[in-house]
Amino acid sequence: MNEQLIRMPMGAGQDPDAPIGQLEKVNKVFLSKKGDDVIAVQDVSFSFREGEFISLLGPSGCGKTTVLKMMGGLIERTGGAITIAGSDVSGPYPDVGMVFQAPTLMPWRSVLDNVLFPMEVLPAKNKASREYAMELLNMVGLHGFEMSRPNQLSGGMQQRVALCRALIHNPAILLMDEPFGALDELTRLEMNALLLDVRQKMKTTVIFVTHSISEAVYLSDTVYVFSKRPASIALELNIDIPYPRSSEIRYGEHFNNLKYRAGEALGITR
Ligand SMILES: Nc1ncnc2c1ncn2[C@@H]1O[C@H](COP(=O)(O)OP(=O)(O)OP(=O)(O)O)[C@@H](O)[C@H]1O
Ligand SMILES: [Mg+2]
Repeated sequence: MNEQLIRMPMGAGQDPDAPIGQLEKVNKVFLSKKGDDVIAVQDVSFSFREGEFISLLGPSGCGKTTVLKMMGGLIERTGGAITIAGSDVSGPYPDVGMVFQAPTLMPWRSVLDNVLFPMEVLPAKNKASREYAMELLNMVGLHGFEMSRPNQLSGGMQQRVALCRALIHNPAILLMDEPFGALDELTRLEMNALLLDVRQKMKTTVIFVTHSISEAVYLSDTVYVFSKRPASIALELNIDIPYPRSSEIRYGEHFNNLKYRAGEALGITR
């Protein structure tokens, strides 16, 4: 694999357990159309290490997307502090990649040109080559589809393209908002395995939003279970299952106990 695919540690020479990201008492209050305050996020604090896989799990409308968008600098917080890779997040910044529920690819561009799109807006020092884009596409199993148009691909394949586009500039942190929520169950399981594989190869730090207890437990080092709106952390669940994780672990007793604990914190037990 190309050297470029492996991210250099950001905190070289520093304590490897030192957090690279930190949210401290983060709050968000929106103004409703009627002019009332909508408290979406209340006092959310957590931190993460380089390379860690974090899931934010919570009920619909609780404020997960809001937390993720604040971490990406897409919306302003109303209180608290967010620090990523040593900098205060106060607006959009280049060292982040994002994948949303819809792949949002440009239909008139080829797969390869979609992956390369961020290069057109990033500073010159971040420019990656066509060869690197091809290598990423190869890594997610899309070799041979470089010149296809997005509408010639399945939903799962389109999300793989969106993942490559998010990784093209080798970001310090990958933010994913229910990226597999619109996919069928089998494709979703496949994408979960693929994502862990990509994370293993690239050592990327991932913050992953999901509704699925099983997905959160399977993927993560740590799951933060959110309460109903306003989002606050109801439970921090450490997933002490070593990587690489096979699909079979989903049927084990320990996996199910962890799912049960997350379900309990959500107020449902399945
Ligand atoms: N721009 C906005 N203006 C006003 N209220 C908003 C705005 N964006 C989000 N909200 C409100 O904030 C709350 C949290 O929304 P958010 O999208 O973060 O939830 P979520 O947990 O991502 O939900 P879902 O799981 O359904 O995607 C909701 O009540 C929503 O209506
Ligand atoms: Mg959301």
